[in-house]
Amino acid sequence: LAYIPENADEEVLKSLFTPEAVEFVEKFGARHDIPKAKGIAGLQVFSTVYTRAIFKICVKEKIPLFVSAVGDPSWCIPEAHANGMKVMSMIGLPKHAKRLSDNGVDFIVAQGTEAGGHTGRIGTMPLIPQVVDIIAPTPVLAAGGIADGRGLVAALSLGAVGVWLGSVFVTTEEAYLESIEMGLTTRWEVDTIQKRIVAATADDTTITRTLTGKTLRTIKNKFQGSWEEENGPVLKTPIQNVLVADLQQGVREAQKEDYVYPLAGQIAGMIKEVKPAAQVIEQVVEQATKVLERLGSNGR
Ligand SMILES: Cc1cc2nc3c(=O)[nH]c(=O)nc-3n(C[C@H](O)[C@H](O)[C@H](O)COP(=O)(O)O)c2cc1C
Repeated sequence: LAYIPENADEEVLKSLFTPEAVEFVEKFGARHDIPKAKGIAGLQVFSTVYTRAIFKICVKEKIPLFVSAVGDPSWCIPEAHANGMKVMSMIGLPKHAKRLSDNGVDFIVAQGTEAGGHTGRIGTMPLIPQVVDIIAPTPVLAAGGIADGRGLVAALSLGAVGVWLGSVFVTTEEAYLESIEMGLTTRWEVDTIQKRIVAATADDTTITRTLTGKTLRTIKNKFQGSWEEENGPVLKTPIQNVLVADLQQGVREAQKEDYVYPLAGQIAGMIKEVKPAAQVIEQVVEQATKVLERLGSNGR
């Protein structure tokens, strides 16, 4: 993020707000009855200094796997490898996978546009085989739109060695527990997010830049919808995160259900209940085994 100072903190990022953006936030809060609150913007600052500090902690704690997204982790590969760590990177385009593989990344997660959270333009089905071909023998995990054993088998057949699931884990009993403990979210907000995902259909998500400045898939909600309708500002990452942080905290404090931002992918339409994470994994493996047996037995 060359446009922000290396050691940017909350105050530095706030100084990069445009006057129009500040005015819009004020008016948006008033129009939508979102009370003024002090957000957690300080925890949304992804500066170079901050990222490098996190990596140092991973090295010190001997974390076996460092996973990076929305950026190029090539800078940390030599030190990671020297300390016995593996580095994995998320990508949404074959050319990015190629560059990272050439730079020595150990695994690639190729994530299709169907996925929840930050996402690209290419669907999982065309993305995986193209990435597999271009970076072989570097192992590829498939992500985006996978939440059961059928998805796992499909990913294997496309050449992936495994899958990386997101949305389905948001609807597990363990989801966001650490974030609640850290004060990043609340039990009420997590319950609301899970309720919205369980109720969602396949068509209830959209891609928006309103939360972080980068394309992100979320269940449609009044915060994103109204911001877009009212032509709200979209600043660069992570300035946008800081811009909306106080409003988001207001939504939390006033428990404005419709304004909660439930990040999730198109597979949300298939998710019908909240369950323990272990059960999700058991069911994925059990179903994949059955599918493989069926395919093996009749050759189809
Ligand atoms: C709520 C939520 C938050 C996410 N946050 C991150 C993140 O911080 N870093 C990251 O690399 N991917 C993040 N992702 C993407 C996931 O790692 C994963 O690739 C994606 O959810 C897979 O697609 P699926 O949602 O269809 O399972 C997030 C996804 C969701 C649903």
